[in-house]
Amino acid sequence: MMQGGAQTPLQHLTTLLGADCIITEPSALEAANVDQLRSYRGRALCIALPRSTEDVARLLKLCNALRVAVVPQGGNTGYCGAATPDASGTQVVLSLRRLNAIRSIDPANYSMVVEAGCILADVQRAAAAAERFFPLSLGAEGSCQIGGNLSTNAGGVNVLRYGMMRELTLGLEVVLADGRVLSSLTALRKDNTGYDLRQLFIGAEGTLGVITAASLKIFPAPRASATAFVAVPDPERAVRLLAHLRQASGDQVSSFELIPAVALELVTRHVPGARAPLPGGSPWFVLCELTSARPGEALTERLEQALSASVENELVTDAVLAQSERDRRDFWHLRENIPHSQRQEGASLKHDVALPIDRLPIFVSRASAWLKAHVPEGFLVCYGHVGDGNLHFNLSERRGLSSGALVTRRDEIRRVIHDLVRDEGGSFSAEHGIGQAKLAELERYSSDVELGLMRAIKKTLDPNGILNPGKVLNVL
Ligand code: MLT
Ligand code: ZN
Repeated sequence: MMQGGAQTPLQHLTTLLGADCIITEPSALEAANVDQLRSYRGRALCIALPRSTEDVARLLKLCNALRVAVVPQGGNTGYCGAATPDASGTQVVLSLRRLNAIRSIDPANYSMVVEAGCILADVQRAAAAAERFFPLSLGAEGSCQIGGNLSTNAGGVNVLRYGMMRELTLGLEVVLADGRVLSSLTALRKDNTGYDLRQLFIGAEGTLGVITAASLKIFPAPRASATAFVAVPDPERAVRLLAHLRQASGDQVSSFELIPAVALELVTRHVPGARAPLPGGSPWFVLCELTSARPGEALTERLEQALSASVENELVTDAVLAQSERDRRDFWHLRENIPHSQRQEGASLKHDVALPIDRLPIFVSRASAWLKAHVPEGFLVCYGHVGDGNLHFNLSERRGLSSGALVTRRDEIRRVIHDLVRDEGGSFSAEHGIGQAKLAELERYSSDVELGLMRAIKKTLDPNGILNPGKVLNVL
């Protein structure tokens, strides 16, 4: 039984965790109330900063009893509004940033156990210090947290070789809505004991439970790499080049990123010091990288040979290989600054789509043709992780138009693009999640059976609907 019914939820929470764990200071709340793209704004009751898994368990148990909604928030770097509270002023933003310990690292078993509040870059560094490699890598790695990476099933630039967060996870510790702790921080590679419960929580964006720690896979550290910036005539040739490089390199391609000329132009204009690596123009480029854990492996020669053969086969029109670590960093700097440059350019629309890789070129040509004919307000900036069939099929607003002209057409444009994605057998949500941005899309593109099962799971795990309500799934 709850005691002291006259107390407000805030008083209950403060009594439970202590005043230093419950933040109501306006500037802290302001940062938590807004998402990073400033597309969503809410008003939180407070930020809870628990110190341990036990604290999280006690907090959720209390919130469940009081029917107070909890919105888990990691580094707040997501694009879909999943970590933003609603405007009611009643929701608790739950930050696990104090749960930031690397609990253990086992180089022999190629695994490590980390807490959810660890910054991704710190996890990478801890693995490197043990001469191992944690491969998840994305633009926000200096501030995003592992809990958020797990909850959105994050992808990034190394998925081609190592997989998404789902594939990198061996076990989880999760606090359920009623405060029970599901503790399964196993480091086993084989474990067929019934349903794979951990997969329910990965990609659930905090709607089924709160992930507090994870057992992760780590890998042999890369000791050799070769990186090239390659001009290709079109996405179709880019896809064929990938197939060729995988075979020719003995499957050592770890990244394969598509970059259109327009993105390169945006980056060189908006980022001081950025310059195009190739002298001539090309409508499309690929940034590709081979890596190996074997020191001294002749990857540069291998890549050079494969690219020369590709010039002869007319897959490639020009290419330059990084001659130094500095060149390599410069190439990656161009790629990593595309989202930033698009923001600098002005308003934009993002579409994070995945396609079967053989359908990707036809999708690009159909969707581009439609945009050209019907959306004079914007221009296409289509880049992404082509090795995974994942495109960021984004639009930027043309300059000189009345501001907002593109964004007011957001829903209509999105509908056409996502319908084309579906027609080609793809997904409207590749690596950025659903949040509140794509609730309607989930309903439109999922079958009744899928939606029914998702709702049944949500009801079972969170019968009072306190976990991140209004995100991922409309619960009927
Ligand atoms: C990227 O790959 O750069 C991001 O996932 C997309 C973005 O930031 O828009
Ligand atoms: Zn991406």
